[in-house]
Amino acid sequence: MMYFSEKKDVVTIGALDFAIYLSAREIQNRIREVALTIEKDYDGKNPLFLVVLNGAFIFAGDLIRNMDIACDVDFVKVSSYKGLASTGRLEVKIPNEKDLTGRHVVILEDIVDSGFTLDQYVPVVQAQKPASLKICTLLEKPDAAKYKVNVDYKCFSIPTKFVIGYGLDFDGAGRNLPHIYQLIDEWGR
Ligand code: IMP
Ligand code: MG
Repeated sequence: MMYFSEKKDVVTIGALDFAIYLSAREIQNRIREVALTIEKDYDGKNPLFLVVLNGAFIFAGDLIRNMDIACDVDFVKVSSYKGLASTGRLEVKIPNEKDLTGRHVVILEDIVDSGFTLDQYVPVVQAQKPASLKICTLLEKPDAAKYKVNVDYKCFSIPTKFVIGYGLDFDGAGRNLPHIYQLIDEWGR
């Protein structure tokens, strides 16, 4: 049973409660700043934004609409199996369609948590010989980093707590929340 509303400070999904952490307005303001930086860096370069589905779809939509430059967009879907296997690998479920050769590629991610996904995926992109490759993420959890990922553009650094909303989900739920919500743990923090 899921319940939420646009005005709620707390949303409940199943047995879990989430408290508002970043408002839609804060998110939009920060995205505008980052978009302007990217716009300056890539003016005249016709960058190709590679959106990592599913989580980054809303972020990507807002980010690129704030950039007044020529650009391309393509989508990839990847899934990571970290599980028990120490040889855990990334599966590319939907690969890019556009040719990345010689392109200025910017990967758009929703969140860098352990860094596993991008640690595995960046070489997949590099193998396609882009002219340059940078990473832009909405969120990063620096204290959760287990793999070294060089993030070039980041909107927010957040603590190591599970978040939902604005594209991010918990078991598929919560992606459509306009704000970002943080899990309230059993001690109510
Ligand atoms: P990483 O591979 O550990 O860096 O994790 C990246 C992926 O894990 C993200 O693309 C998300 O799909 C998922 N993820 C990590 N933390 C969260 C979170 O707090 N909320 C929702 N999804 C998350
Ligand atoms: Mg993701």
